[in-house]
Amino acid sequence: MRIESLDHARQLDAADPLAAWRKEFHLPLHEGRESVYFTGNSLGAMPKKVRAYLETELHAWQTYGVEGHFKGEHPWKDYHHLFTHAAARLVGAEPGEVVVMNNLTVNLHLLMASFYRPEGKRNIILCEGGAFPSDQYALETQARWHQLNPDEVVVELVPRAGEHTLRTEDILTKIAELSDRLALVMMGGVNYYTGQFFDLEAITHAAHAVGALAGFDLAHAAGNVPLYLHNWEVDFACWCTYKYLNSGPGGTSGVFVHSKHGDNPNTFRLAGWWGHHEGERFLMKKGFKPMPGAAGWQLSNAQVLSMAAHLASLEIFDAVGMEQLRAKSLKLTAAAEAALMELNTRYPQAGFRLITPQDPQARGCQLSILCGSNGKALFQHLENKGVVADWREPNVIRIAPVPLYNSFEDVWQFASIMEEGLQLLA
Ligand SMILES: Cc1ncc(COP(=O)(O)O)c(C=O)c1O
Repeated sequence: MRIESLDHARQLDAADPLAAWRKEFHLPLHEGRESVYFTGNSLGAMPKKVRAYLETELHAWQTYGVEGHFKGEHPWKDYHHLFTHAAARLVGAEPGEVVVMNNLTVNLHLLMASFYRPEGKRNIILCEGGAFPSDQYALETQARWHQLNPDEVVVELVPRAGEHTLRTEDILTKIAELSDRLALVMMGGVNYYTGQFFDLEAITHAAHAVGALAGFDLAHAAGNVPLYLHNWEVDFACWCTYKYLNSGPGGTSGVFVHSKHGDNPNTFRLAGWWGHHEGERFLMKKGFKPMPGAAGWQLSNAQVLSMAAHLASLEIFDAVGMEQLRAKSLKLTAAAEAALMELNTRYPQAGFRLITPQDPQARGCQLSILCGSNGKALFQHLENKGVVADWREPNVIRIAPVPLYNSFEDVWQFASIMEEGLQLLA
């Protein structure tokens, strides 16, 4: 899809069924005007109703003090229940398979405590090379925790020479090769650097075929691409909520545990009182009895103030639905891609190229631009002119036109500012 002119962009926006949602968000201003906010893959824009949702809980605290656990609009002792159905719909899960708690890396460790249980020669964790550093550190220290050498048991898949993304066939071949040495596949759902959306279903089935488990960090996938975790038989997953899910800095995290594990009380889990059987939680008795489902992985009482922001945002996702979001996302990203390809042809000396897969099914909304030597200057130009994108070392500009609040006019503005930068730097 190619945007021909500013008028054309505005016509596309006028015909966009999701266009009205933009005004439900605060978009940071640049010189008094809304910036082109293309960094929803890092920190999503603030939904306007977050303030009221926080205010509700502050009011409950002010009014009821400790009694707020049992009184008020959303008694805090049950706060995590408010997310169950919408979070399940978001990731294609059954309601009992999801819970909202803690932060992402914390949850990754908690889930690996359950699902990375090396035994004898079955001790390898397979992940994508260049995973987000927090995931790399988590895998490294999980290996050490089991007195294993991470250089031996954490196997990273890298793209073929001259390629930037992984081929599904290569992932599946590696899984088959590792066979009975493979304990766990733990990858990003969408890679943070390239924007590649992996074939989670095929990877999960391949892992199961050799007797291993499959779990995913969905930080860049939740709220970005359609997910069917239950049907794909994914064993576990977790995601943050501050990127595509707009729940504010340091926002809480979502967790998925497939019912085949979650409903089995013998699945090992690290425990805290919030995962204990709800009916007996306040009896203060010895002996951990887990709640069925993902809820049994909770440790602590809900971080209500931070979760209030997530509630506000998740309601928006639930009202719009991932299908509609994806439909717009495919168009918006295709329009940005077409504009970038055209600039690449017209300014070949700039030496940039897209490393995100061209196949729309193998990506979400993000496009990663691998820059030539003037990449930092180009990025600086975008920033100076009100495009909020991000720079990822060593040489990538990431842009994420998100369907909930970005417009075709944003894409047009971005491409014009990019062209201006390319001319200046030529
Ligand atoms: C893919 C991925 N994993 C993990 C993290 C770390 O998240 P947290 O700080 O919420 O644990 C991030 C943060 O951006 C991320 O992008």
